[in-house]
Amino acid sequence: MKVLVTGGAGYIGSHTCVELLNVGYDLVVFDNFSNSTPEVLKRIEKITGKSILFINGDIRDEDAIEKALFGCDAVIHFAGLKAVGESVEKPLEYYDVNVYGTLCLVRVMQKLHVRKLVFSSSATVYGDPEFLPFTEEHPLRTTNPYAQTKLVIEEMLRNLYVSDQTWRIMILRYFNPVGAHESGLIGEDPKGTPNNLMPYIAQVAVGKREKVSVFGDNYPTKDGTGIRDYIHVVDLALGHVKALQTINKPQCTAINLGSGKGYSVLDVIHAFSKACGKNVSYMIVPRRAGDIAEFYSDPTLAKEMLSWEAKRNLDAMCTDMWNFQVKNPKGYV
Ligand code: NAD
Ligand code: UD1
Repeated sequence: MKVLVTGGAGYIGSHTCVELLNVGYDLVVFDNFSNSTPEVLKRIEKITGKSILFINGDIRDEDAIEKALFGCDAVIHFAGLKAVGESVEKPLEYYDVNVYGTLCLVRVMQKLHVRKLVFSSSATVYGDPEFLPFTEEHPLRTTNPYAQTKLVIEEMLRNLYVSDQTWRIMILRYFNPVGAHESGLIGEDPKGTPNNLMPYIAQVAVGKREKVSVFGDNYPTKDGTGIRDYIHVVDLALGHVKALQTINKPQCTAINLGSGKGYSVLDVIHAFSKACGKNVSYMIVPRRAGDIAEFYSDPTLAKEMLSWEAKRNLDAMCTDMWNFQVKNPKGYV
């Protein structure tokens, strides 16, 4: 089976390409490198010993997508913009790339009669928790433009399925992806100052930054710091393989991909300190605007439908993240 992977040079896409190649899929990667580099493709080939067909194109260019999609049986769609803060400053860019880009992709899929789609959504579509853990039935309400683009795309895909019930669509709602491939060849390479906790900690550990700022220690949690559901990126990648293998009946289903376990900011700092063998310095600062105390998944549906569950624990997430950081202190450059 041949699969088009949009955004396949990115953080989650690259790890998913490795796992897809490992189980024998043929791949076409489609990316414009707006948040990645061609070096990633070489590294995927090095890890797997297999070659990838690559097309450099923009997800809003239907002609380019058509060339890439020709002969494919399914699509995994990662391409998009993902920074919450930036989406507040540049909402139109987010609607353009995420919503319009997905519209273009789906239109070409319709034209070429490709009906299998796995889409990268985000647990951020749940917004502030009404109850925890989040099941897929939790009400959807968003608190920023990035999340809103994911919700609009989800609704568009549900509408599409209602109009044509030959589609096979899986919407995967990721919790907090972290870690790296155990080879240390691929991982997360954020541009500028990392927004997310784990890449920030890794840069402090490697000496690139001085201290982690812990955003608040007065939440109603076990140690006062925020709790999240971290998921190893390789487990997440394997979830996509399972989704492709399982999506043989017409449907449009949303599924959580999380571990179901919550860890505090201090848990993560301590686990990382253990993994890198030195104390990661931190200081407590005021809460970050818009943050919530606790956010974690109920992963039952993924287990039932995909026979998938997250296997790698917090120590493995930190060890693999550290391995990538040490081997690539300046990222992919
Ligand atoms: P990433 O930025 O590393 O990867 C996205 C890839 O898409 C990059 O290689 C980028 O160059 C490419 N891209 C961006 N705009 C494009 C365009 N117009 N045309 C073609 N390619 C384009 O991000 P990631 O962390 O791998 O995330 C992948 C997907 O998962 C995104 O849709 C993101 O919203 C979603 N997601 C990510 C997280 C997370 O924490 N990383 C959480 C939930 C959901
Ligand atoms: C962020 C995104 C969210 C996205 C998710 C997964 C924001 C506002 N939200 O959420 O849309 O789906 O990542 O990638 O960006 N923390 C610190 N210090 C730091 C960074 C973070 O203490 O320097 C704390 C946060 O307060 C939070 C936890 O660490 O409690 C995790 O933060 P982060 O990695 O940014 O993820 P989310 O807040 O879950």
